[in-house]
Amino acid sequence: MHSDAERILISEEQIEKRVKELAAQLDKLYEGHKPLVVCILKGSTIFFADLVRNMKAPIEIDFMAVSSYGSGTVSTRELIVKKDLTTDIKGRDVLIVEDIIDSGNTLYNLKKMLITRAPASLNIVTLLDKPERREAPIEPEYKGFVIEDEFVIGYGLDYAEAYRNLPYVAVLKRSIYEN
Ligand code: PRP
Repeated sequence: MHSDAERILISEEQIEKRVKELAAQLDKLYEGHKPLVVCILKGSTIFFADLVRNMKAPIEIDFMAVSSYGSGTVSTRELIVKKDLTTDIKGRDVLIVEDIIDSGNTLYNLKKMLITRAPASLNIVTLLDKPERREAPIEPEYKGFVIEDEFVIGYGLDYAEAYRNLPYVAVLKRSIYEN
Protein backbone atom coordinates (compact mmCIF):
# COMPACT_ATOMS: atom_id res chain seq x y z
CA MET A 1 0.00 0.00 0.00
CA HIS A 2 1.19 3.56 -0.74
CA SER A 3 2.64 5.27 2.34
CA ASP A 4 0.27 8.27 1.90
CA ALA A 5 -2.74 5.97 2.13
CA GLU A 6 -4.46 5.38 5.46
CA ARG A 7 -6.13 2.18 4.27
CA ILE A 8 -7.31 0.44 1.15
CA LEU A 9 -11.05 1.02 0.76
CA ILE A 10 -11.67 -1.07 -2.37
CA SER A 11 -9.12 -3.65 -3.49
CA GLU A 12 -8.03 -4.45 -7.04
CA GLU A 13 -9.93 -7.72 -6.84
CA GLN A 14 -13.15 -6.06 -5.67
CA ILE A 15 -12.90 -3.48 -8.46
CA GLU A 16 -12.22 -6.12 -11.10
CA LYS A 17 -15.23 -8.18 -10.03
CA ARG A 18 -17.58 -5.18 -9.90
CA VAL A 19 -16.39 -3.80 -13.26
CA LYS A 20 -17.18 -7.16 -14.89
CA GLU A 21 -20.66 -7.16 -13.35
CA LEU A 22 -21.35 -3.62 -14.55
CA ALA A 23 -20.05 -4.42 -18.06
CA ALA A 24 -22.41 -7.41 -18.25
CA GLN A 25 -25.39 -5.27 -17.16
CA LEU A 26 -24.51 -2.61 -19.71
CA ASP A 27 -24.14 -5.21 -22.48
CA LYS A 28 -27.66 -6.33 -21.71
CA LEU A 29 -28.98 -2.77 -21.68
CA TYR A 30 -27.41 -1.96 -25.05
CA GLU A 31 -28.16 -5.24 -26.81
CA GLY A 32 -28.80 -4.45 -30.48
CA HIS A 33 -27.51 -0.89 -30.07
CA LYS A 34 -24.16 0.81 -30.57
CA PRO A 35 -23.72 3.16 -27.61
CA LEU A 36 -21.29 6.05 -27.48
CA VAL A 37 -19.36 5.59 -24.25
CA VAL A 38 -18.08 8.90 -22.93
CA CYS A 39 -15.08 9.16 -20.62
CA ILE A 40 -15.13 12.25 -18.41
CA LEU A 41 -11.48 13.29 -18.05
CA LYS A 42 -9.39 12.79 -16.14
CA GLY A 43 -10.63 10.81 -13.15
CA SER A 44 -12.64 8.20 -15.03
CA THR A 45 -9.89 7.12 -17.46
CA ILE A 46 -8.86 3.98 -15.59
CA PHE A 47 -12.42 2.84 -14.83
CA PHE A 48 -13.45 3.66 -18.40
CA ALA A 49 -10.61 1.62 -19.93
CA ASP A 50 -11.41 -1.42 -17.78
CA LEU A 51 -15.17 -1.08 -18.29
CA VAL A 52 -15.13 -0.86 -22.09
CA ARG A 53 -12.64 -3.73 -22.33
CA ASN A 54 -15.13 -5.90 -20.49
CA MET A 55 -18.09 -4.85 -22.63
CA LYS A 56 -18.96 -6.98 -25.63
CA ALA A 57 -21.45 -4.54 -27.17
CA PRO A 58 -20.15 -2.80 -30.32
CA ILE A 59 -19.34 0.57 -28.81
CA GLU A 60 -17.79 3.86 -29.87
CA ILE A 61 -15.84 6.04 -27.46
CA ASP A 62 -15.37 9.76 -26.95
CA PHE A 63 -13.91 12.07 -24.31
CA MET A 64 -14.98 15.21 -22.49
CA ALA A 65 -13.31 17.42 -19.89
CA VAL A 66 -15.62 19.52 -17.74
CA SER A 67 -15.68 21.17 -14.36
CA SER A 68 -18.36 22.92 -12.41
CA TYR A 69 -17.37 26.38 -11.43
CA GLY A 70 -18.46 28.57 -8.55
CA SER A 71 -19.97 27.87 -5.17
CA GLY A 72 -23.41 28.20 -3.68
CA THR A 73 -26.61 26.63 -4.91
CA VAL A 74 -26.90 24.26 -7.86
CA SER A 75 -28.50 26.89 -10.09
CA THR A 76 -25.62 29.33 -9.63
CA ARG A 77 -22.97 26.78 -10.62
CA GLU A 78 -21.68 26.96 -14.13
CA LEU A 79 -20.41 24.10 -16.26
CA ILE A 80 -17.10 24.82 -17.92
CA VAL A 81 -16.47 22.60 -20.95
CA LYS A 82 -12.71 22.33 -21.27
CA LYS A 83 -12.89 19.71 -24.00
CA ASP A 84 -16.08 18.88 -25.85
CA LEU A 85 -17.15 15.68 -27.61
CA THR A 86 -16.13 15.27 -31.24
CA THR A 87 -19.18 13.07 -31.93
CA ASP A 88 -22.66 14.34 -32.77
CA ILE A 89 -24.86 12.64 -30.16
CA LYS A 90 -28.23 13.43 -31.76
CA GLY A 91 -30.19 10.18 -31.81
CA ARG A 92 -27.35 8.24 -30.17
CA ASP A 93 -27.42 6.09 -27.06
CA VAL A 94 -24.96 7.82 -24.76
CA LEU A 95 -23.33 6.34 -21.67
CA ILE A 96 -21.43 8.76 -19.44
CA VAL A 97 -18.65 7.18 -17.40
CA GLU A 98 -17.62 8.97 -14.20
CA ASP A 99 -15.23 8.04 -11.43
CA ILE A 100 -17.12 9.70 -8.59
CA ILE A 101 -20.31 11.62 -7.88
CA ASP A 102 -19.84 13.92 -4.93
CA SER A 103 -22.00 17.07 -4.78
CA GLY A 104 -23.47 15.98 -8.11
CA ASN A 105 -23.12 19.47 -9.57
CA THR A 106 -20.83 18.43 -12.43
CA LEU A 107 -23.05 15.64 -13.67
CA TYR A 108 -26.29 17.51 -13.08
CA ASN A 109 -25.12 20.35 -15.30
CA LEU A 110 -23.46 18.06 -17.83
CA LYS A 111 -26.60 15.97 -18.21
CA LYS A 112 -28.72 19.09 -18.65
CA MET A 113 -26.37 20.31 -21.38
CA LEU A 114 -26.14 17.00 -23.24
CA ILE A 115 -29.93 16.52 -23.21
CA THR A 116 -30.24 19.66 -25.36
CA ARG A 117 -28.31 17.80 -28.07
CA ALA A 118 -31.16 15.26 -28.31
CA PRO A 119 -29.53 11.87 -27.68
CA ALA A 120 -31.82 8.82 -28.02
CA SER A 121 -30.89 7.88 -24.45
CA LEU A 122 -28.51 9.09 -21.77
CA ASN A 123 -27.30 6.92 -18.91
CA ILE A 124 -24.69 7.46 -16.25
CA VAL A 125 -22.37 4.89 -14.73
CA THR A 126 -20.11 5.93 -11.87
CA LEU A 127 -17.53 3.84 -10.09
CA LEU A 128 -18.09 5.59 -6.77
CA ASP A 129 -21.09 7.36 -5.29
CA LYS A 130 -20.92 9.56 -2.19
CA PRO A 131 -24.64 10.23 -1.57
CA GLU A 132 -23.99 12.03 1.75
CA ARG A 133 -22.41 14.93 -0.11
CA ARG A 134 -25.16 15.40 -2.69
CA GLU A 135 -26.37 18.92 -3.45
CA ALA A 136 -27.83 18.48 -6.94
CA PRO A 137 -30.72 16.10 -7.73
CA ILE A 138 -28.85 13.53 -9.78
CA GLU A 139 -28.93 9.76 -9.48
CA PRO A 140 -26.68 7.54 -11.63
CA GLU A 141 -28.40 4.62 -13.35
CA TYR A 142 -25.44 2.38 -12.55
CA LYS A 143 -22.88 2.56 -9.77
CA GLY A 144 -19.94 0.47 -8.63
CA PHE A 145 -19.72 1.25 -4.94
CA VAL A 146 -21.47 3.55 -2.48
CA ILE A 147 -18.89 5.09 -0.16
CA GLU A 148 -18.85 7.29 2.91
CA ASP A 149 -17.60 10.85 2.94
CA GLU A 150 -13.86 10.19 2.99
CA PHE A 151 -11.03 11.55 0.84
CA VAL A 152 -10.36 8.81 -1.67
CA ILE A 153 -7.51 8.39 -4.14
CA GLY A 154 -6.40 5.83 -6.70
CA TYR A 155 -7.85 4.02 -9.72
CA GLY A 156 -8.08 7.38 -11.51
CA LEU A 157 -8.82 9.59 -8.51
CA ASP A 158 -6.26 12.15 -7.50
CA TYR A 159 -5.16 14.54 -4.82
CA ALA A 160 -3.28 17.45 -6.45
CA GLU A 161 -2.94 15.26 -9.58
CA ALA A 162 -1.08 12.48 -7.72
CA TYR A 163 -2.08 8.86 -7.01
CA ARG A 164 -4.24 8.32 -10.14
CA ASN A 165 -2.26 5.19 -11.10
CA LEU A 166 -2.75 3.28 -7.85
CA PRO A 167 -4.56 0.06 -8.80
CA TYR A 168 -6.96 0.27 -5.81
CA VAL A 169 -9.12 2.94 -4.15
CA ALA A 170 -7.63 4.11 -0.86
CA VAL A 171 -8.41 6.66 1.83
CA LEU A 172 -5.79 9.42 1.87
CA LYS A 173 -4.07 10.18 5.17
CA ARG A 174 -5.38 13.40 6.71
CA SER A 175 -1.84 14.66 7.25
CA ILE A 176 -1.36 14.85 3.46
CA TYR A 177 -4.21 17.26 2.77
CA GLU A 178 -4.39 19.14 6.07
CA ASN A 179 -1.82 21.98 6.64
C1 PRP B 1 -14.28 15.05 -10.18
C2 PRP B 1 -15.06 13.86 -10.71
C3 PRP B 1 -16.35 14.45 -11.15
C4 PRP B 1 -16.54 15.59 -10.16
C5 PRP B 1 -17.47 15.14 -9.09
O1 PRP B 1 -13.62 15.66 -11.22
O2 PRP B 1 -14.39 13.22 -11.76
O3 PRP B 1 -16.30 14.94 -12.46
O4 PRP B 1 -15.26 15.91 -9.61
O5 PRP B 1 -17.70 16.17 -8.20
P1 PRP B 1 -19.15 16.79 -7.97
O6 PRP B 1 -20.13 15.67 -7.93
O7 PRP B 1 -19.01 17.48 -6.64
O8 PRP B 1 -19.43 17.77 -9.07
P2 PRP B 1 -12.50 16.77 -11.02
O9 PRP B 1 -13.10 18.11 -11.26
O10 PRP B 1 -11.79 16.55 -9.72
O11 PRP B 1 -11.52 16.50 -12.24
P3 PRP B 1 -10.60 15.23 -12.59
O12 PRP B 1 -11.54 14.09 -12.94
O13 PRP B 1 -9.81 15.67 -13.76
O14 PRP B 1 -9.76 14.89 -11.37
